[in-house]
Amino acid sequence: MLIRAKADIPASEIAPESAWFNRRAFVAGLAAAGLVGTARATPRYVAADGGQKELNGVSRGPFSTDEPANSYEDITTYNNFYEFGTGKEDPHRNAGNFKPQPWTMRVQGEAEMTGEFDVEGLLSGVGLEERVYRMRCVEAWSMVIPWVGVPLGEVLKRFRPTSRAKHVAFETVYRPEEMPGQKRRVLDWPYVEGLTIEEASHPLALLAVGVYGVTLPNQNGAPLRLIVPWKYGFKGIKSIVGIRFQERRPPTSWNISAPHEYGFYANVNPQVDHPRWSQASERRIGSGFSGLFARRVPTQMFNGYGEQVAHLYSGLDLRRNY
Ligand code: MTE
Repeated sequence: MLIRAKADIPASEIAPESAWFNRRAFVAGLAAAGLVGTARATPRYVAADGGQKELNGVSRGPFSTDEPANSYEDITTYNNFYEFGTGKEDPHRNAGNFKPQPWTMRVQGEAEMTGEFDVEGLLSGVGLEERVYRMRCVEAWSMVIPWVGVPLGEVLKRFRPTSRAKHVAFETVYRPEEMPGQKRRVLDWPYVEGLTIEEASHPLALLAVGVYGVTLPNQNGAPLRLIVPWKYGFKGIKSIVGIRFQERRPPTSWNISAPHEYGFYANVNPQVDHPRWSQASERRIGSGFSGLFARRVPTQMFNGYGEQVAHLYSGLDLRRNY
């Protein structure tokens, strides 16, 4: 992954919080009023600010951290989404022409039910949950993010995967006309990722459709993206258009790009350094008056979710299988 230099620190980190906080007060207000965790009646979508729609019927899911969440501003202006450019501010600047609706997902492979599915239909009947998760990027920065989504495993089992479905492969949409970064060959497009079926079925794995109680902004992976909180952020593939159940381990974008630097598992592991930097600690975005001086916190094994997920890797040499 490219290393970002000083110029990538967004204004939101440099300006004092009071200078930008009010612009997003409506979202913070939702959270403060406890509304994001409150189940509400239909209609499911109610207009909200910034093109995002308020998500209704959200219950408070398990596994949330009580660490303070990053602001909506941090979460939506400091992003990695190379389809819109490689700078941290490129995604929110360049994602305006992207059209996440209507959205159809293609499901293929080792499952009894395959085909094209409308996302609304796919998610209907599965309750939306708010999950406040730590997010640790492989570049050694981190945030705390209140996602809204559905457990990935609940969605996957609707397709009735067969016993040959040992892995799940995911693919991002390929639309160079709407995603200007795809016109440059920084990665082999489309972006692809994958999990073992056990990882994908783990209750922590989330298919996120929103953040802070509203639908995902384009730069965060609208209309739906993966969140695997015990793994480095690059496993969290955005704007998913394809899912395939398969026996073989699927190729993954960063592993194709730099196999000696990025493995398939990509579990957060402070003991295994990246070949070009240490993974022992991380820079918590938004925690300091400037991103460069942001609070450094020790990185935890499995990003602090070891109690829940360590058993998935028992007997596996995590130094070799990084
Ligand atoms: N998904 C796609 N399709 N393209 C990307 O460039 N970047 C990944 C991941 N998902 C990426 C992607 C990386 S490196 C990280 S750290 C997270 O998205 C960042 O998610 P965020 O911008 O919502 O914080």
